[in-house]
Amino acid sequence: MTALCAELSAIAGAAFAAEGLSDSFGQVQRSDRPDLAQFQCNGALAAAKQAKTNPRAVAEKVAARLKANPLFAKVEIAGPGFINLDITDDALAVRLGTMAKDATLGAPQTGEGKALVIDFGGPNVAKSMHVGHLRSSVIGDSLQRLYRANGWTVTSDIHLGDWGLQMGQLISEVQHRGIAPIYFDAAYTGPYPDESPVTMADLEEMFPKASAACKADPVRLAEARQATAELQAGRPGYRALWQQFFNVSKVGLDREFSSLGVHFDMWKGEASVDPITGPMVEDLKARHIAVESEGALVIPVERNTDKKEMPPLILVKSDGAVLYGTTDLATVIDRVRSQDPDLILYVVDQRQHLHFEQVFRAAEKGGLTGRATLEHVGFGTMNGTDGKPFKTRAGGVMKLFDLIAMVTAEAEKRLAEQGIGAEYAAEERADIARKVGIATLKFADLSNYRLTDYVFDLERFSRFEGKTGPYLQYAAVRMQSILRKAEPKDLTPAARATLTSPEERALILQLLGLADAMAGAEAKRAPNILCEYAFELAQSFSRFYAAFHILSESDDALRAARLGLCGLTLAALTKVLGLLGIEVPERM
Ligand code: ARG
Repeated sequence: MTALCAELSAIAGAAFAAEGLSDSFGQVQRSDRPDLAQFQCNGALAAAKQAKTNPRAVAEKVAARLKANPLFAKVEIAGPGFINLDITDDALAVRLGTMAKDATLGAPQTGEGKALVIDFGGPNVAKSMHVGHLRSSVIGDSLQRLYRANGWTVTSDIHLGDWGLQMGQLISEVQHRGIAPIYFDAAYTGPYPDESPVTMADLEEMFPKASAACKADPVRLAEARQATAELQAGRPGYRALWQQFFNVSKVGLDREFSSLGVHFDMWKGEASVDPITGPMVEDLKARHIAVESEGALVIPVERNTDKKEMPPLILVKSDGAVLYGTTDLATVIDRVRSQDPDLILYVVDQRQHLHFEQVFRAAEKGGLTGRATLEHVGFGTMNGTDGKPFKTRAGGVMKLFDLIAMVTAEAEKRLAEQGIGAEYAAEERADIARKVGIATLKFADLSNYRLTDYVFDLERFSRFEGKTGPYLQYAAVRMQSILRKAEPKDLTPAARATLTSPEERALILQLLGLADAMAGAEAKRAPNILCEYAFELAQSFSRFYAAFHILSESDDALRAARLGLCGLTLAALTKVLGLLGIEVPERM
């Protein structure tokens, strides 16, 4: 099913083309004055400028062509040459019927035959996840859900940070503590114990100390660097210890991501490309793409057009260790070989933009990208109400688990205040609080355009009114309960126009905008467009519901049509919330 604005744009585009103008002027969008028209096309202004004629004259010619199309109930010219459009109630009803019968609710199949690899999450082994990784996880998860819904073949990869200096720091910390000498006995090459010598809690305790020791003491830092280089060079005891770190971290991370409802297809990491890194470096050297510079091996990536300084990508340091950029470059090769994607998205903090620019240029220069476009999907920071990066009360970095506990507790409090679920079993109440808490967190994050920093104001985002996750969940639950009470037999809205009040028409138009919202959110990699859509849908429903007594309507056909509209609204709202990673409780 073609998205409605896309369908109208094609019609208007053909009208411009028939006047000898580019069809790109036919872009149609929802009107920003819904009191005047449903849709608008502003292309006559730009078209006239280009053709050096009068915009109103262009608009009149295009409008005359559109008037001949029975789809339109109204074609009007406003101001200097805006074209205002309404479509007929019958046309709306037909499209609504098609949407209701489609299991995907008319999702735009933008990704048909296309493959996406999406890299997000990116926590580091042995360090606990903090809110910095939260945004990547929440935005990345929403994007993977959206691309799947739009028909792409999607592979998500967590891309764990498991190969850098922090691994060497931990290895040398374990050595200093004398916890597991067997891994350090150079004469011994295995087998190593199955059980890990450290737990996740141990790692969390050890890492800050190891890192502080390296900062304070150059000898410790040299040891950690040495351990990193030996690990990467394949020393068996270090590899075995690394594997233990990886395993215990994975269990912990898996738990955190599950509680957030975030799933990854692949749990690969920087270390996973180790076997192909050596050959890649040799190949790049042989083709003179990588060159020596001050003892290191680098890929120069500056271009004449650069306005800012663009340092080279460092591939191998003078001590032989590989870096973040090296593993990212090898990962491009791995992904192109295994998935042959059309697009690779990296959902990572905007502060890493330079890094990705270097990696992408190096990959292109080396001819490593296959048919894939590589794109950094950056995001800003989540701040506290003081405007500074979000911290715990005590001023520490907030861990994801603590954050989830915090939003869940707030949801519990709010639900109790509203008297919601007082009569439910404790278990169900806890489940509702968890879903509401996660919705608070995700919606707060996703409703802002990703590149803008935002303030996480728990008090505001956990309210049941306003633009919040809990408000939308509540709206969906209310629709569920209306439908339960009404017990409708058939939820297909009538194909002939029976719903012609302003409130009904507005709701129908909003429903038909779903595919446009999904396509728009994909094009901009911007889930906030879905948030906006969901909020407007809930508001349109609320106005519709306030205007009619659906359950007591005595005209059977009208009652059925309105219930059909209610059912479709619930389906659309549930779907969009699903794309945001938000679950709707059965009742609240
Ligand atoms: N581990 C990195 C960090 O914590 C993020 C990884 C992002 N993905 C990538 N392919 N570099 O900053």
